[in-house]
Amino acid sequence: MTLRVGVIGVGMIGRDHIRRLSAVLSGVEVVAVSDVDAERARTVAAGVPARVLATGEELIADPGVDAVVVCSWGETHERYVLAALAAGKPVFCEKPLAPTEGACRRILAAETAAGRRLVQVGFMRRYDPGYRALRAAVRGGSIGEPLLMHCAHRNAGVPAWYVGESMITDTAVHEIDMVRWMFGEEIAAATVLVPRRSRNGGGLRDPLVLLLETAGGILVDVEVSVNIRYGYDIRGEVVCEDGTASLGEPSPVRVRRAGLAGDPVPADWRERFARAYDVELQEWVDAVRGDGPLGPSVWDGYAAAVVADAGLAALRSGNRVPVSLIDRPALYAD
Ligand SMILES: NC(=O)c1ccc[n+]([C@@H]2O[C@H](COP(=O)([O-])OP(=O)(O)OC[C@H]3O[C@@H](n4cnc5c(N)ncnc54)[C@H](O)[C@@H]3O)[C@@H](O)[C@H]2O)c1
Repeated sequence: MTLRVGVIGVGMIGRDHIRRLSAVLSGVEVVAVSDVDAERARTVAAGVPARVLATGEELIADPGVDAVVVCSWGETHERYVLAALAAGKPVFCEKPLAPTEGACRRILAAETAAGRRLVQVGFMRRYDPGYRALRAAVRGGSIGEPLLMHCAHRNAGVPAWYVGESMITDTAVHEIDMVRWMFGEEIAAATVLVPRRSRNGGGLRDPLVLLLETAGGILVDVEVSVNIRYGYDIRGEVVCEDGTASLGEPSPVRVRRAGLAGDPVPADWRERFARAYDVELQEWVDAVRGDGPLGPSVWDGYAAAVVADAGLAALRSGNRVPVSLIDRPALYAD
């Protein structure tokens, strides 16, 4: 049976997900949308076509909606995820699960009390073919145990709402989740190093380096540069005992002209991770329809929020900040 999905929040990523749910993926249709910007909701709904519901809560309660996709601003995620849990409906929540540790703990308590997983968090790097191949190479055993990872997260520029904390909570949070998944270990501590500022960075401390230490002693450096101008560039190299493995260039083509050879660089995350978003949501649809496990969990959303908090504390203080997690509930056992 086709999964009937309602989407809350039809801004940039909400519209992109509606497009893929409607036109790219199988076994799913978008039947309802809701947004605090009613005019935007009407315009987007007309293009699907789908019904418009006045509030996210009405959309969740609607009997014609089987499952919910939450793409509103991060501060609003908690109330919609809790409402979906109360209604017993599966929910795909864009990252962050919620912006504070307290909100993540409340969601964790609600899902644990329900006794079954209903929530998936939108950490899409786990679905990127490059990261999946990198993880397989690292775990394949032919290059020994991992010791270090070097990452770069470079944006051409950032929107007007972007503030200093966003370097950690909005940008590096993707590496925080990716590192936990890559190595199957929690992150034990965070430190932030800040070099001289880029003249392109406005008021931001841009670039910065986030240093993550895993519980098993792997050290990961993440360069975060968010006004690099030349494009959206995501890099990762794992250094193991007997070799290294790194992400390849995302472009399938090399261009030579005017004495130079080069690979086109994606403009932004939509272009770089288009395939990852497709796979992520198709696997979610399949899982909700009963074919396969759900992806990143409420535990993953909680752990990422706690590590991001440690990163913020490290940015403010200049100190190494240990990460402290509650005991992992059995519901989220690997
Ligand atoms: N996984 C990723 O790579 C990725 C990429 C981009 C954005 N995101 C996440 O997706 C979410 C949305 O980001 P965006 O870039 O689309 O933002 P956006 O501002 O473009 O869109 C957000 C939409 O939500 C609506 N909205 C706000 N509060 C609402 C509420 N209470 N109820 C219903 N609608 C509400 C806004 O009116 C807007 O239309 C954020 O949590 C963001 O971090 C994830």
